[in-house]
Amino acid sequence: MALILGIESSCDETSVAIVENGKDIIAEKTASQVRIHAPYGGVVPEIASRHHLENISVLMQMLMDDSKVTPRSISAVAVTYGPGLAGPLLVGVSYAKALAYSWKVPLIAVNHMLGHLNAVFLFDETISLPCVVLMVSGAHTEIVYMRSLDSYKILGKSTDDAAGESFDKVARMLGLAYPGGPEIEKIAKFGKPRYRFPKPRTTRKYDFSFSGLKTHVKYFLEKNPNIKKEDVASSFQETVAELLVERAVEAAEEYSVSDVVVAGGVAANTVLREKAYNLFEKKGIKFHFPPLKYCTDNAVMVAAAGWQNYKSGRFADLSLNVVPNLEV
Ligand code: KG4
Ligand code: ZN
Repeated sequence: MALILGIESSCDETSVAIVENGKDIIAEKTASQVRIHAPYGGVVPEIASRHHLENISVLMQMLMDDSKVTPRSISAVAVTYGPGLAGPLLVGVSYAKALAYSWKVPLIAVNHMLGHLNAVFLFDETISLPCVVLMVSGAHTEIVYMRSLDSYKILGKSTDDAAGESFDKVARMLGLAYPGGPEIEKIAKFGKPRYRFPKPRTTRKYDFSFSGLKTHVKYFLEKNPNIKKEDVASSFQETVAELLVERAVEAAEEYSVSDVVVAGGVAANTVLREKAYNLFEKKGIKFHFPPLKYCTDNAVMVAAAGWQNYKSGRFADLSLNVVPNLEV
């Protein structure tokens, strides 16, 4: 039996969790800074770092009190070391190093994107491997062919903005708050996808480009200043959801896999989920999404990813540093 403590602080959520054997959630505590950054239209790294620093010890105290787990029963400390914002990452990594040192347990360095991926596997035991993974977060968009949790090949990625970033930028154009994804989804319910926006193709088959789509929406709004913004939100959301699902299905068909896993913040989008689920009947491709609560950043996914390293003895040493632009 192994109890892994997970720590996440790569962006605007401070989160700590204890997960047993990569499967059972013993306890978790998360503090979101979404409301603090909303007036700035995005995460301000300096402010985020300061809040992580204020929150992390309090959350740890609450976690240990509520779980009744003693430091002596923790097997390892897993922490996100990238990708993400340098300052915020440093708070989590420094804290994790101090705990690992004083508790005399191994330190595990977790790639945040693999954390998102583990959030899907943690709650869904029906995924058949190999599968195709669609990673869609605020900073990443990737299509991956995955043989196992340790063996995968990146088929394509965004050449410019990430999928979540395009939601955030279009939301700002529409005068909506940050983060833009949930805001667009909210108002789109009162609109219709009346407009066809382009789905930019790229030279490499599985790459994405969201910047062109964003610019198209910008010019469209400039040309039509009195348009109903709910319709624009709905049309934009429809276009992104179709594009993501179509590309994932293309990859699934080419690589002859029946299962597609969607991970990261954008996986929370209902229209994306509906489009994906409809394909099971049409094409026999089964999409898997994490529970809504675990789509965005959390430490449960970090502890679950850490368990994979723990099993194979892949530990970091106390000189671990953050890698803000770490690749998948
Ligand atoms: O994975 P995440 O929490 O952070 C990163 O690792 O980047 O993803 C945050 C991104 C933001 O861009 C946010 O707008 C987007 O996920 N997002 C959504 C939804 N909820 C969050 N995008 C579309 N629809 C949603 N419901
Ligand atoms: Zn994330």
